[in-house]
Amino acid sequence: MTRQSPASEDAPDAEFPAAVEAIRTRRSGHNFDPDGDVSEETLREIVRDATFAPSAFNLQPWEFVAVRDDERLDTLVDLAFGQDHLRDAGTGVVVVGHTESERNAERVYTEWAEAGRITEDDAAERIAQAEADDPDREFAIRNASLAAENFLLSAHARGLKATPMTGFDFDGVADFLDLPDDQIPVVLIALGESGGDEPERLPRRSVDDVLHIDDY
Ligand SMILES: Cc1cc2nc3c(=O)[nH]c(=O)nc-3n(C[C@H](O)[C@H](O)[C@H](O)COP(=O)(O)O)c2cc1C
Repeated sequence: MTRQSPASEDAPDAEFPAAVEAIRTRRSGHNFDPDGDVSEETLREIVRDATFAPSAFNLQPWEFVAVRDDERLDTLVDLAFGQDHLRDAGTGVVVVGHTESERNAERVYTEWAEAGRITEDDAAERIAQAEADDPDREFAIRNASLAAENFLLSAHARGLKATPMTGFDFDGVADFLDLPDDQIPVVLIALGESGGDEPERLPRRSVDDVLHIDDY
């Protein structure tokens, strides 16, 4: 298999190349350093990594709302049913998904056409279809979840702790963040500096158990 070199602006961060190691050592933690601080610059780099996730037709139907203000974070902790590790983490990132592909359709399908990957007629048809499509929560959840996993791995590879959470009041968080009607919170990520080790990881189901070749 040949590996394509990424364009220079997309080059992987040379300091953190060990993707497989990151996958295998990533943890969801509760032990955050309450005095730690993730800089906005680092947050931006992690979000940048998240945006390299695959998405249907490259529509990138996601947003990242980072709550860092202490009072706002307290409210988010309440909305997460009092999960205190979020407060210790210092940053709560709500990964938001678009339920309508229409939002980015014009820009993205125009890019496909400009790159010569589809015709202009195809692009126009796809844009019209996106405008006609019903809202689709699965579209939002699938795409935003992939971006969320990239986020977790990037944070971990950078020596930070990032814990995905769905134990929160979804409608309450949507109101609190003032999300547009066509967008939903998909996962909340507690992001912060580690406060120490986590309990040993619980076992994973084996490959023999989960892998089915050609049929279930
Ligand atoms: C969809 C989903 C929801 C989760 N919700 C929470 C949560 O509300 N609070 C929390 O502390 N951890 C939450 N977790 C983290 C899991 O408990 C954790 O991923 C699992 O125990 C495996 O541990 P590991 O990620 O350290 O390997 C969630 C994980 C996923 C994927």
